[in-house]
Amino acid sequence: MHFDLVIRGGTVATASDTFAADVGIAGGTVTAIARGLPDGARTIDATGRLVLPGGIESHCHIEQESATGAMTSDDYYSGSVSALFGGNTSFIPFAAQHRGQSVEEVLETYHERAKKSVIDYSFHLIITDPSDAVLKVGLPKAFADGVTSFKVFMTYDKMIVTDEMMLDILVTAREHGALTMTHAENNALIKWMVKRLLERGYTDAKYHAISHPAAAEAEAIHRGISLASFVGAPLLIVHVSTDAGARLVANARTEGHAIFGETCPQYLFLTRDDLDRPAPEGAKFCCSPPLRDGRTQADLWRHLKAGNLQLWSSDHAPYRFDATGKLSAGPNPPFNKMANGMPGIEMRAPLLFSEGVRKGRVSLNEFVALTSTNAAKMFGIHPRKGTIAVGSDADIAIWNPDETRTVTQTGMHDAMDYTPFEGMSVTGWPETMITNGRVAMADGVLLAERGAGVFMKRAPFDASGYQQPVPPELDPKIAFGAKLL
Ligand code: URP
Ligand code: ZN
Ligand code: ZN
Ligand code: ZN
Repeated sequence: MHFDLVIRGGTVATASDTFAADVGIAGGTVTAIARGLPDGARTIDATGRLVLPGGIESHCHIEQESATGAMTSDDYYSGSVSALFGGNTSFIPFAAQHRGQSVEEVLETYHERAKKSVIDYSFHLIITDPSDAVLKVGLPKAFADGVTSFKVFMTYDKMIVTDEMMLDILVTAREHGALTMTHAENNALIKWMVKRLLERGYTDAKYHAISHPAAAEAEAIHRGISLASFVGAPLLIVHVSTDAGARLVANARTEGHAIFGETCPQYLFLTRDDLDRPAPEGAKFCCSPPLRDGRTQADLWRHLKAGNLQLWSSDHAPYRFDATGKLSAGPNPPFNKMANGMPGIEMRAPLLFSEGVRKGRVSLNEFVALTSTNAAKMFGIHPRKGTIAVGSDADIAIWNPDETRTVTQTGMHDAMDYTPFEGMSVTGWPETMITNGRVAMADGVLLAERGAGVFMKRAPFDASGYQQPVPPELDPKIAFGAKLL
């Protein structure tokens, strides 16, 4: 037995089990998991440490123009480095189509941008313009190239798709085994609220939360689930921020539909009171859906524990607190002119570990599922990624469960100028990161080279285990019987 690397004496945890074992790595993959393995060319002592599958960040905006043209501060280099320091060994940012662009053009652009990444990557394709060419040529080609998830927006004037467009996309996704993701908020209700608030002179950041009520999220989630279930297509509701929204996801799953839900740290660690800081500070906390309240935080913890929400993602959308980002509309913009989104790719896993695992709100195995395994399964990269098993890529995070740090922006590795989690005390941090069998970070030192990450060609969405009946209405032959035709 020859090993390039052996991780000795740690506690290994997957989404299902926790056990003491050494992990042997050769040629970039895990080749043995057992006690008492011989030393490798290099051996890491993991006594007192947790040996976990590397995190998979499946919702982040990297080197992406917003609908209004602002560019995220993080490119694929800084974004991937920050992800790595936060315990991640791969990520799936968005490749965003702007209206009029072909799918080929979009993917080419993002493939070029992503060459700098230090960790493995793929893209979810954002579709804003489902023309015939996109539906009949672009999407099938993207799918064949291993981009097997699409995202649509049910809100934002520059991104929104109509319900009819969404049905076209869902049917195309179903046909090709792709998973559709959606940002679910009712656009009209939000616009109506924004207008009403501005007319009355309410312009402070805190009114952003008022303008995006829980009802806007619940209505759109219900509609999204209805459309997806009708055509028998799987659907992932991203950044669920309300109890009502999480309940809708849970109900649909109880009925057997392939409906999934994701939530993000900001909804469990911050509240809309953070928007009420002295102007323009509140702009730092402006994201959509907006921050809610303490009661909602408790509800979302409960939904995570119950398995009603399967993904814990950062929704890292790094717009700096300056004229390139949050303050691009002026030094003290009204709430509807603040760039939406906040950074957090580096804090995603440590926050869940500290407040979730250490405080008994979720188990260590649930932590692994929420930060890694579920994303691997949903997005077609399991079991190559998302677990520690013989034959899997050696993407491993060695955590010190007892190290405490106070969160500061200077401690972050992104290209931002603030973190919304500044000052929080967090216990449990990734100490050594291994990507494809190589030590990529150790004791706070980056060892991975620029461009070390490779594109992950993903498999189709695995629909086994879900009955996705297509309703008879979609095929009149079934609905009415041959006698009517
Ligand atoms: O406010 C947010 N979340 N901005 C990023 C884009 C999105 O909607 O996910
Ligand atoms: Zn969104
Ligand atoms: Zn149903
Ligand atoms: Zn997002």
